[in-house]
Amino acid sequence: MADRTFAESLNDQVANEFAAHQQYVALAVHYEAETLPRLAAFFYRQAVEERGHAMMITQYLLDADLPVRIPGVDAPETSFSDIVAPVELALAQEKRVTQQISALAALARDEGDYQGEQFMQWFIKEQVEEVSTMSDLLRVVERSRDNPLQAEEWLAREGLGQGEDSDPTAPPAAGGAM
Ligand SMILES: [Fe+2]
Ligand SMILES: [Fe+2]
Repeated sequence: MADRTFAESLNDQVANEFAAHQQYVALAVHYEAETLPRLAAFFYRQAVEERGHAMMITQYLLDADLPVRIPGVDAPETSFSDIVAPVELALAQEKRVTQQISALAALARDEGDYQGEQFMQWFIKEQVEEVSTMSDLLRVVERSRDNPLQAEEWLAREGLGQGEDSDPTAPPAAGGAM
């Protein structure tokens, strides 16, 4: 990434966010097939958020008059041995995205692009929340390995994966609200 400009790397990040969307749809479908609807709903909802991130970055590229590519993505992982593996994969993905976002902020700063650096701030905060939520969920599914309904009950109780959580500080997304 170091030899790529901020604008190029931001386009790469559109691909990373769409890849996260595809991966979370795949996780949701896995849980749906296992008749674990709360876990499915949680990941369907996460998928929509990832799409939103891709579209926010797309809108920024448009607003900043930078070239916009809508890149293709690699196929997601779709087979899992138990209820824990998908969440392990999701947590690893969120940690990887956190590094990507930090690298983007650093690159913007290096280029003296303070608007770009400022744009990345919301994503830095968002990643703190996403890693934290996924870490919590991992602990829950690990405890529920032999009784997945415990994880389902926890998700129902915590209200995760349901309803909206519109964030008024979120950057605008291309095509309007998600
Ligand atoms: Fe994201
Ligand atoms: Fe995420």
